[in-house]
Amino acid sequence: MGLSSNNRNLLSKMATNDGHGENSPYFDGWKAYDSNPFHPTNNPHGVIQMGLAENQLCFDLIEEWLKGHPEASICTSEGVDEFKETALFQDYHGLAAFRNAVAKFMGRVRGNKVTFDPDNIVMSGGATGAAETISFCLADPGDAFLVPSPYYPGFDRDFCWRTGVQLVPVVRESSNNFTLTITALEAAYKKAQYAGLKVKGVLINNPSNPLGTTLNRETLRSIVRFINEKSIHLVSDEIYAATVFSQPDFVSISEILEEEVDCNKNLVHILYSLSKDMGLPGFRVGIIYSYNKEVVSCARKMSSFGLVSTQTQHLIASMLSDNDFVERYIAESAKRLALRHTTITRGLAQFGIGSLKSNAGLFFWMDLRKLMKEPTFEEEMKLWRVIINEVKLNVSPGSSFHCSEPGWFRVCFANMDNETVEVALRRIRTFVLQSKEAETPVKTHRWRNNLRLSFSSLRCEESMMTPRVLTPHSPIPHSPLVRAV
Ligand SMILES: Cc1ncc(COP(=O)(O)O)c(C=O)c1O
Repeated sequence: MGLSSNNRNLLSKMATNDGHGENSPYFDGWKAYDSNPFHPTNNPHGVIQMGLAENQLCFDLIEEWLKGHPEASICTSEGVDEFKETALFQDYHGLAAFRNAVAKFMGRVRGNKVTFDPDNIVMSGGATGAAETISFCLADPGDAFLVPSPYYPGFDRDFCWRTGVQLVPVVRESSNNFTLTITALEAAYKKAQYAGLKVKGVLINNPSNPLGTTLNRETLRSIVRFINEKSIHLVSDEIYAATVFSQPDFVSISEILEEEVDCNKNLVHILYSLSKDMGLPGFRVGIIYSYNKEVVSCARKMSSFGLVSTQTQHLIASMLSDNDFVERYIAESAKRLALRHTTITRGLAQFGIGSLKSNAGLFFWMDLRKLMKEPTFEEEMKLWRVIINEVKLNVSPGSSFHCSEPGWFRVCFANMDNETVEVALRRIRTFVLQSKEAETPVKTHRWRNNLRLSFSSLRCEESMMTPRVLTPHSPIPHSPLVRAV
């Protein structure tokens, strides 16, 4: 919503500036979805939400656990005895049971190759709050972090908006499958210095949103050497750690710290949350795990602004302490993510649409370069508008992830049911077929425009689909302005 100049004067510069980033196409796509959300029977021609990195594939397992453990909730007759104590507890260290369970879970998600000390855990309102807190702790306004691009758009809001910190992209390119190189890291460091910025650290996101890829051991070692040499921080956002569904296995920065003898652990901090790995973004369980006791202490004081409610801590402590459940959940989730990923990427490949090979995440990085007339960001936006307005799929353009090359799009695949996936694939197929037709020089094609590919109104098979009821996995309309995932 635009602000009147009257209000602009009445409110603070911080509150009214653009740092939140909600004017980007990333959020515009959600607005398009919100105004016309797909529903299999009520609105079969609506927009399908493929711009939301939610993990909705294993809710049945969590619901089953909740039904079997009514004592874990203070809102049941079995659990109400804990009500008073839970309602009163507000220590910013958090419940010991919660920190213990989260520390153990973090170890389990990393294959039990490393252990985490519950005393180094600071809670926050999701990874969003954790990111801002760590930014406040490590950097002053004007200081910078280097971040490999393409990167999660929310980082601009979380690391920079209210802190005044800046992000400097470390360019990753398609020519080497968007691999992070130390040459690019060095170049970004020099560029930042040349611009007069004080570089306070490197921010990595492993597994990566939006690429869906993991950093290998060698790259992680090089990054650790790099930050040690420069004596700057390393923040590793590992919120997709348990979404790794195929080889290679996930390597956490915590593993590297146990191997590298010459590493100053005080420089390393991990961001985590249950939003993706457990599919619980609404619970707002975020974690800063720092190897630096002073950072733990500062972050804990700051966490007063975004604690996890004790009721949630109580429930999560109980759920994550159930080893059998955790084992089953992690294994089943990876299996379902793998299946969904294969279904969509193979489906697209059949119509000639490629994507970056990936092994993790709730999304993949779709390559539509050959559908563009020219390799420019203007063409990318034109193509994106066709996809959202005519194909009626909300995918996110690469430019909103600060990708340096036009033509890439992030496609989320775990926030919908199988039937919606089928509809999405059918729409894409129709789009590609019609676009191929459009490429042949037929004078009468009324819908040919300046894109190499174009799309008419959807006359796809969807209209012939049998009516269906909304299943629990169908996307539900939400306000686009309250989330960045
Ligand atoms: C890489 C990354 N970090 C942080 C977040 C924020 O997560 P949370 O819901 O825990 O605040 C997201 C959400 O999409 C993300 O993709």
